[in-house]
Amino acid sequence: MTELLFNPFDASFRANPYPFYQRLREQEPVHVSPLGFTILTRYDDVARTLRGQEFARDIDAHATQRENDPRRERRERFRQRIEDGTAAKSILNLDPPDHTRLRRLVSLAFTPSAIERLRPRVQQLVDDVLDTAAERGSMELVEELAFPVPFQVISDLLALSTERSDEVREWSQVLTASLEPTVDDAALAAADEASVQMSGYLSDVIAHRRRNLGDDLLSALIMAEEEGDRLTEAELRSFVTLLYVAGHETTVNLIGNGTLALLRHPDQLRRLAADPSLDVNAIDELLRYDGPVQQTVRVPTVDVQYGDITVPKGSVVMTVLGAANHDPDVFDQPDQLRLDRPSAGRHLAFAAGVHYCLGASLAKLEASVAITTLVRRFPELELAGEPGWRDRLTIRGVDHLPLRLR
Ligand code: HEM
Repeated sequence: MTELLFNPFDASFRANPYPFYQRLREQEPVHVSPLGFTILTRYDDVARTLRGQEFARDIDAHATQRENDPRRERRERFRQRIEDGTAAKSILNLDPPDHTRLRRLVSLAFTPSAIERLRPRVQQLVDDVLDTAAERGSMELVEELAFPVPFQVISDLLALSTERSDEVREWSQVLTASLEPTVDDAALAAADEASVQMSGYLSDVIAHRRRNLGDDLLSALIMAEEEGDRLTEAELRSFVTLLYVAGHETTVNLIGNGTLALLRHPDQLRRLAADPSLDVNAIDELLRYDGPVQQTVRVPTVDVQYGDITVPKGSVVMTVLGAANHDPDVFDQPDQLRLDRPSAGRHLAFAAGVHYCLGASLAKLEASVAITTLVRRFPELELAGEPGWRDRLTIRGVDHLPLRLR
């Protein structure tokens, strides 16, 4: 029964989606789900969709609206707020040329060399956490390292205090829950509320920073200008919200999932501990093996053909990054973790095309410092209990990883 091929409501699917992806890729790589979207699981189809100019990211503008869609009112409210200038679409949901304009304004701060300058600070944060944990001989990886380090780094970059980190973390989790394919109206309403709260908080912060500009990223964004073009207040708020959320919600999972993958492959953990020349490829392989973002969506703006299947313009296409990253046509024996895999860098964990993750260099730097320092300092690292998983499909990650440090 094809309806069962993709069932995000199935708990075992969310717990370990890879066998389900494999079945989909083998049986129906272009799967029209009864849930109302088309699901792609082959590497080539996913890559083509992410890179192709005939695909849009702005679902509200391009997806065919269904009659009596209960979400119409919500969309209309948001459209009204955009017109009023009180809200702006996130860069993630824009298409060229609006996307191009915004991306150009914000890219400078994220070049690999700008990010590399953060390395000593990241190393210091990681060392401090591990010093404290070493005295105890144990740690809870997510609470002590995987969350606080990226959160502190993005807060430093934006020169934001971490006083309200609990609230920001809560809002971010509610916001990313709305990306789930199983999202219901209650979760969307909660996300709208969290967005209002986050916006209110950031409005105050931005107003304060306008009066006290410094050499931080937020000040740079306030001043960013190209050919007379600037970010509006609403664009600024929307972008900073995305940075804040993306800056820690995803990297925490790369550090968590990556460490767990190594613990489950002790030979690879030992190789990484002994061989720094593996560092760069290792992070790509961990991103490929169990990436934090499992899927995203696009909408074709013309009818498109995948083999003999036509996907009509205006339909929602789900590109399953986690499935593409386990496609045996590109990654030999994809379910094995091989830190020296020559093709690891071809993974699509940061997507591809114009929306390729702006924070990729930062995420890799943070994960690389955190994971390599951990395994080199404690090469006999062990699990000290069962890992816990967040019950999510879009943003996939462990939320509990108790370790014994040796
Ligand atoms: C391992 C960690 C991360 C992963 C796996 C990840 C993944 C992604 C993916 C898949 C996209 C594209 C989504 C799409 O095309 O629909 C994206 C976009 C984006 N990411 Fe990340 N991300 C990570 C970390 C970060 C960090 C640390 C930041 C910033 C500090 C960040 C900022 C952004 C931004 C601003 C975009 C939107 C880019 C655009 O639309 O042009 N990400 N990320």
